[in-house]
Amino acid sequence: MKHPQFPHAKRVLLVDDEPIQRLLLMRALEPLGVEVQEARNGQEALDLLRDSLPHVVLTDLHMPIMDGLELTRRVKALDPLLPVILLTADGDREVRLKGIEAGADDFLKLPVDLVELRLRVKGHLERRKLQEKLEDLERALFALVRAVEAKDAYTAGHGERVAQYALWTAEELGAKPEELEDLHMGALLHDVGKIGIPDHILRGDYTLTEPEWRLIQEHPVKGDEIIRPLRAYARLKPYVRWHHEKLDGSGYPDGLTQIPLLVQAVTAADIYDALTSVRTYRKVARPEEALQALENEVRQGRLDREVVRAFKSALLRNRALRTV
Ligand SMILES: [Fe+2]
Ligand SMILES: [Fe+2]
Repeated sequence: MKHPQFPHAKRVLLVDDEPIQRLLLMRALEPLGVEVQEARNGQEALDLLRDSLPHVVLTDLHMPIMDGLELTRRVKALDPLLPVILLTADGDREVRLKGIEAGADDFLKLPVDLVELRLRVKGHLERRKLQEKLEDLERALFALVRAVEAKDAYTAGHGERVAQYALWTAEELGAKPEELEDLHMGALLHDVGKIGIPDHILRGDYTLTEPEWRLIQEHPVKGDEIIRPLRAYARLKPYVRWHHEKLDGSGYPDGLTQIPLLVQAVTAADIYDALTSVRTYRKVARPEEALQALENEVRQGRLDREVVRAFKSALLRNRALRTV
């Protein structure tokens, strides 16, 4: 009986117009246990790439129809992180410089040292697999965020809206690009800890009992536990754990009185989105009313004045005062 085949775990796309050279390279790659796809020029390679991406592209430079440099550019336009190894003639500095410019990750001199070829391809394969794994983890995490939002029809898209408002605000506050990256991820994940809370409590369309209220207040700590295995944990934690903290110490879970401004940008965005979102049990606030609520937070010493100012002008600048 024939069993369905899993797609091969590691795939190398080999692009060369010389059949003998292709055969030689294929033989050299055999011990790596990879599937090798063959193409005779850049155009053929691109046709194969459109179906599915390999883990490494190994390409000759001089080929008819489309050469290795153009192929490198096109591959990088499709996926900047897909490794491309260019085969170049010995000592061809000009070509190597052009290759670097096109985005090639590595070079192998012709005639190819087959041992070196194996080692280089192996290294790139491993890095690519690792990167795939990280991307899958990230996707799984965001699937979890969507699962949380799906528990309550009214919170669909909450994470993304909060992230967008917070990003605009942070830009207004002069945050650095790498800070924006962390803030984006942190804002998307801020309520991930709600995953364990029963749906009817989350909907909150009745007066919650004291234990139910305490359960809701645990979500920043639960979220902190969920994201702990991430490498970026230390940089994401403030957003997930402290987005319900208040400067007067009345927030939860830690009762902080000093809160990073970028975390407060998420807090402001969170309050604004909650108030302007449709709920069954209360009237939707108009944007002006929601901004007024933020001003009140400032007046009561719970939220930084500068953050709310930045939030307001970011919304105006991006013409995103949410109309309902
Ligand atoms: Fe929250
Ligand atoms: Fe939230």
